[in-house]
Amino acid sequence: MKRIGVLTSGGDAPGMNAAVRAVVRTGVYHGLEVFGIEQGYQGLIDGRIAPMTARSVGGIINRGGTVLRSARCQAFYDPAGRAAAADQLKQRGIEGLVVIGGDGSYRGAQTLYDEHGIHCIGVPGTIDNDIGGTDFTIGYDTALNIAVEAIDRIRDTAQSHDRLFFVEVMGRESGYLAMMAGIAGGAEAILVPETPTDIEKLIAHLVEGREKGKTSSIVVVAEGDDAGHAIDVAREVSARSDFKDSRVVVIGHLQRGGSPSAFDRILGSRLGMRAVEALLEGATGKMTGLSANNVVLRPLSEAWECRTQFDPSFLRVARVLST
Ligand code: F6P
Repeated sequence: MKRIGVLTSGGDAPGMNAAVRAVVRTGVYHGLEVFGIEQGYQGLIDGRIAPMTARSVGGIINRGGTVLRSARCQAFYDPAGRAAAADQLKQRGIEGLVVIGGDGSYRGAQTLYDEHGIHCIGVPGTIDNDIGGTDFTIGYDTALNIAVEAIDRIRDTAQSHDRLFFVEVMGRESGYLAMMAGIAGGAEAILVPETPTDIEKLIAHLVEGREKGKTSSIVVVAEGDDAGHAIDVAREVSARSDFKDSRVVVIGHLQRGGSPSAFDRILGSRLGMRAVEALLEGATGKMTGLSANNVVLRPLSEAWECRTQFDPSFLRVARVLST
């Protein structure tokens, strides 16, 4: 293998740049030519592919977002789109591809290999930490810290005004980020899609807290909760109780931006480097991951088949400690 490509796909995550830098520099170290592909699979189909050098990834390890830019690409679901993408790679003699993204991006990578023989290795990048094959995904730690900082700030004003706040934390189908942000932020309650939300029980818990002397409370609501968004939960609580004057904060995309934490930079560096070495070993259909602080290589399919197991014991920690 003499030429490889790298792309970032799906929602951007802080630390993706560290992974891009690691892929490029590991490739250069091993004498490969490395090509950067802009805007994920869409850029691949369109042929927006340019050589990268060790110098072109200088000064990016500390930057949020992804210098390659990212996208969610509908055309890649179509066999014709994948054939066009494979042609772009073959025309340039690119035999291996590193895909930095989430499980949706990996399904695309797997199909690209199955249909066109392009060797693909995945590197897990998403703030949601919701894919199997790795203990942590790149971006999760930074996003968690941003969410916790936001909750801390909200607590200051909540305490000053004796208020109830509903804080919405990202995570399309997963409550992992919200759960951890809630524990670290000392939330009074955490609502996640993995467990059914009972508004009456939530109200009872808030009332109990008030009777025990709590003058303010914070409820963390995962974006994908079954009771709806934070605004919906706040409305329901207001309609069914005397908590009429609550406030709602949606942290939203603030969680995806900003300089990556040291943890995410190190994770991106380790997983990106291993991805290139895996390609050089002839591997395909694999993802790099972290397991008990070791870098491991797992089948790509683990990403979607063994999604990070939801551990309800964390919710119990939050509940007991919010007494
Ligand atoms: O998957 C990462 C994520 O940030 C989710 O937490 C969120 O639901 C989604 O992406 C938002 O996507 P978009 O940036 O397209 O609005």
